[in-house]
Amino acid sequence: MSCALVLPKNILSAVKSRTLTLRRQALVSCGSADQHKSLSVRLSQIKSSGLPTHSHFLRSPYGSFNRLPPDAGVCFPIMSISIKTPEDIAGLRIAGRLAAELLDYLTPFVKPGVSTGELDRLAYDYTVNVQGCIPACLGYCPPGMTPYPATTCISINHVVCHGIPSDKKILKAGDIVNIDVTSIKNGYHGDTSRMFVIGKPTIAGKRLVDLAFGTMWAGIDAVRPGGCFNDIGRACQAYADANGISVVRDYGGHGIGKGFHEEPHVNHFPVNRPTPKFEPGMVFTVEPMVNAGRYGVTMLNDGWTVVTKDHSLSAQWEHMVLVTETGYDVLTVSKGTLPPPAFVKGWHLPENL
Ligand code: MF3
Ligand code: CO
Ligand code: CO
Repeated sequence: MSCALVLPKNILSAVKSRTLTLRRQALVSCGSADQHKSLSVRLSQIKSSGLPTHSHFLRSPYGSFNRLPPDAGVCFPIMSISIKTPEDIAGLRIAGRLAAELLDYLTPFVKPGVSTGELDRLAYDYTVNVQGCIPACLGYCPPGMTPYPATTCISINHVVCHGIPSDKKILKAGDIVNIDVTSIKNGYHGDTSRMFVIGKPTIAGKRLVDLAFGTMWAGIDAVRPGGCFNDIGRACQAYADANGISVVRDYGGHGIGKGFHEEPHVNHFPVNRPTPKFEPGMVFTVEPMVNAGRYGVTMLNDGWTVVTKDHSLSAQWEHMVLVTETGYDVLTVSKGTLPPPAFVKGWHLPENL
């Protein structure tokens, strides 16, 4: 994090405008686990921020909040989960596919002896020069954070997420590694991650990688119109409990569109409060991080890297999911996408990838 960040001009301006957008959103969105600020606090924050109060952020949340009436005596956060238009969905499908194809491209390089810094350079070049995309992570700077210095997040073994690539981090046999990529195409974000087992797998590593995949798919398969976000949390937690692993609570999925991290925050464990209802046209990520040991995590001094507190192994997969009229669709698919586990009946890989 001490090295200076030199960015090409086009990327720099995209990064700047995204950062601004993010700052605006931060005033009104939940973002993290802290979802329960009252409406009046939110409104006064927005007024004192000088932001236009006619913004769509101020729309009433009751429609998507299990239809409780405004006088129910409950403090609602301002939740405005956008319903994507057919044009948005087409754009997100393209961005999602490009992100998945970037992982396909990287796959043959993910071998013992390669550094995560080298993988990140390959990812940058392919994203910018081959795919004509903007790497969304590079320079990404949520309020209170330092700018993220790379194209990818590469998280090895006990690193839960946001591992910063480095020439000093060399992959070795038995490592389990998450590569998480986010690309912007025509203004739309594509965000996906996969696990890789390096060289000869260890029993424990392979097991956790497979269970993380099952946890993600249990969550995805809980998505249907009329259900609610807690269904994802319940499904992921039940799958993890049945297999003796834990679900990280401090990080979750998120709405996604023209914004990188849109509302809502998606928990992969159940919460004791009403959660928004799924409605056709919502797009969000399902990306549970699961640990072989306990769920607690800590952040390293670099301000980004998240590790398990107990140093146990951690694994994660990520897809973008669209709520459809009848169930869901997965937007982050490419030739290299693995088919879902056998318990998933409601979705299969498209044949003509
Ligand atoms: N791709 C991550 C996600 O799934 C976010 C990474 S933000 C970064 O939400 F700045 F660390 F890259
Ligand atoms: Co994500
Ligand atoms: Co991601």
